[in-house]
Amino acid sequence: MIDKGTAKPKSKKPAVERQISPEAKSDDLDSLLRPQKLVHFTGQEKLKANLSILIEAARLRGEPLDHVLFHGPPGLGKTTLSHIIANEMDVNIRITAGPAIERAGDLAAILTNLRAGDILFIDEIHRLGRAVEEILYPAMEDFVLDIVVGKGPGAKNVRLKLPKFTVIGATTRLALLTAPLRARFGALYRMDFYELEAITQIVMRGARIVDMPIEEAGAAEIARRSRGTPRVALRMLRRVRDYAQVRGDGKIDQATAVAALDLLEIDSLGLDDLDRRVLETIIHNFNGGPVGLDTIAASISEESDTIMDVVEPYLLQLGFLARTARGRTATHNAYKHLGVPIDPDQGSQADDSAKQATLF
Ligand SMILES: Nc1ncnc2c1ncn2[C@@H]1O[C@H](COP(=O)(O)OP(=O)(O)O)[C@@H](O)[C@H]1O
Ligand SMILES: [Mg+2]
Repeated sequence: MIDKGTAKPKSKKPAVERQISPEAKSDDLDSLLRPQKLVHFTGQEKLKANLSILIEAARLRGEPLDHVLFHGPPGLGKTTLSHIIANEMDVNIRITAGPAIERAGDLAAILTNLRAGDILFIDEIHRLGRAVEEILYPAMEDFVLDIVVGKGPGAKNVRLKLPKFTVIGATTRLALLTAPLRARFGALYRMDFYELEAITQIVMRGARIVDMPIEEAGAAEIARRSRGTPRVALRMLRRVRDYAQVRGDGKIDQATAVAALDLLEIDSLGLDDLDRRVLETIIHNFNGGPVGLDTIAASISEESDTIMDVVEPYLLQLGFLARTARGRTATHNAYKHLGVPIDPDQGSQADDSAKQATLF
């Protein structure tokens, strides 16, 4: 039995633990579009090369894969790659997420149900609680589970052996991972925004799968506005496909893509309404910054987490936003893109310091 204090009430369903067989097929569009093999996973070439060596070496030695951690902004393929690894290794994958494992007992129950070689995928792994993490350390390192049997003075610590398994963790916030947890991963992979060419190919492939005629220029237009993110690109593909079927001639060419995306108010750089609201509030309400993230979030009624995970990484990459010790500032490039004249007294701090550097 598991430590009473952490055992789960019977009535509650176990943590989001869902076994997905590698062959699982669904006619749901999402899973249709999700590549199943590494060769169908476009882009991230370096990461793929490293990953295929990792997989091949484990296979040659007949060992379970080392624990793997994927980190990077949402929608870049962390979950997809985890499933691909399970397919390539031909093992089961069990899916859970940091917030779903509330107590140490929940994790203990998951771990004792694993079979040798299984993959345990933990999404949002930075959101695991302390007590849960402490169960995970010895499980990952030595494949043992330390539990308390009985209660009161008669309680005993018992160490159970676990089969050798692999944890694949995914996180959008590497910085929030505790050092000991991070240290237990043998392979850390950072996912970056995709190149235009790769996203174009992903859109072309998606269109082929749903039988939608598309021209390369149409796919490239979607790719350009997708902020280097496959999830965004595929979502846009669906909307452009709707538009092409309803208003167009059933084919996605560049003009159709432009018209559909303009109507959705996604601009030429892929900024949407939320991105613009973030920049505009910094510019108009806070003199270009610096302003704290929570203040920005409150003034546009958005979650700070959404801004931090979804909005900021792309604005930072575009050079529209700068992070300073005192908060976020909008850069001159952001003003230019939004067509806001730069008031010399209200220039952003980031640009000001650049100006000063040339002055002195
Ligand atoms: N390299 C890729 N090639 C094709 N489709 C991809 C690729 N990366 C991600 N996708 C698609 O983008 C969507 C988001 O990917 P996902 O793995 O859920 O991202 P994350 O877990 O990083 O948030 C999925 O629908 C997936 O099929
Ligand atoms: Mg995911």
